Amino acid sequence: MIDLRSDTVTRPTEGMRRAMLEAPVGDDVFGEDPTVKRLEEYVAGLLGKEAALYAPSGTMTNQIGVHVNTSRGEEVLLHEGSHIFVYEAGAPAMLSSVQLRTLPGENGVLEPDTLRAAVRPEDVHFPRSRLVCLENTHNTAGGKVFPLEDFAAVAGAAKELGLKVHLDGARLFNAQAATGIPASEWCEHADTVSVCSSKGLGAPVGSLLAGDEETISEARRARKAFGGGMRQAGIIAAAALYAFENHIERLAEDHERARNLAAGLRDAGYEVPEPETNLVLVAVDEPFEFLEALAREGVLATPGKPGFVRLCTHLDVGDEEIEKAIEAVARITAGTRQR
Ligand SMILES: Cc1ncc(COP(=O)(O)O)c(C=O)c1O
Repeated sequence: MIDLRSDTVTRPTEGMRRAMLEAPVGDDVFGEDPTVKRLEEYVAGLLGKEAALYAPSGTMTNQIGVHVNTSRGEEVLLHEGSHIFVYEAGAPAMLSSVQLRTLPGENGVLEPDTLRAAVRPEDVHFPRSRLVCLENTHNTAGGKVFPLEDFAAVAGAAKELGLKVHLDGARLFNAQAATGIPASEWCEHADTVSVCSSKGLGAPVGSLLAGDEETISEARRARKAFGGGMRQAGIIAAAALYAFENHIERLAEDHERARNLAAGLRDAGYEVPEPETNLVLVAVDEPFEFLEALAREGVLATPGKPGFVRLCTHLDVGDEEIEKAIEAVARITAGTRQR
């Protein structure tokens, strides 16, 4: 099977497994795991933040980000296709008692005027607008980069409006690889940032939340409350550290393969927007039928936004797999034409 469902399906590499085997560990809830500490310091440095906190998943670091930036009953503004709104099981309501307000925007980008129009005036009838969440790269938009200028503009508007900014950067390093702009430049405009080690970077598990010392100290408390305090977590933190140290540069290879895949699918007759990073959206009339046909040909993918399927390149797919995936799609097209 060629698994193009997600960049989360990768297996740890040899080097990563060796790093895990050799990792010094301690009880991280007591603050005694040296490998977790090294990872947190390393990632805080990469993102230009004072501190970072290691947690089991991107959902948890996003939810801790929401929690530390809000109080009960407040409102969080975010794009209607954002992961926090669509795919996190209603957690902001469950864990932080906040209300989400979704906003439209092309390619996952929120415009400053959209934000300005949505922020509530001070009035006893309204919830208090407190936080805006931005996502880069944007998953449901097909791995689109949030252009730095647009990001700075909307984050600047948020600041003027008295809002905090959380960046869901699960695939922030894909934005860095696609543009050559250091991830830290986006982070400058955000109060808290979550990044994942278990997406394109290929670690088996984990995510980090970065911000200033005080916020991350609060985040450590929230992580414990949410059940994310881990003990000898150095075993998995070692894999994450290895991923940040060794797998950021190679993301450009995934992007090139995504472009090759898109070109091949266009040659097979499909409408495929040019991918900016590692996610490829293919327009199809019947996404579920298409996915079943693909699986019969040995290729796995997922539904994308309505009317599209999503294919994702990653560490465990090479040029040969991309060629085979294109051939599989061409066979499906040929079969459809015969009928
Ligand atoms: C943009 C984005 N944010 C957050 C997450 C959540 O990460 P996790 O699956 O580790 O909870 C994902 C997962 O795909 C994602 O795409």
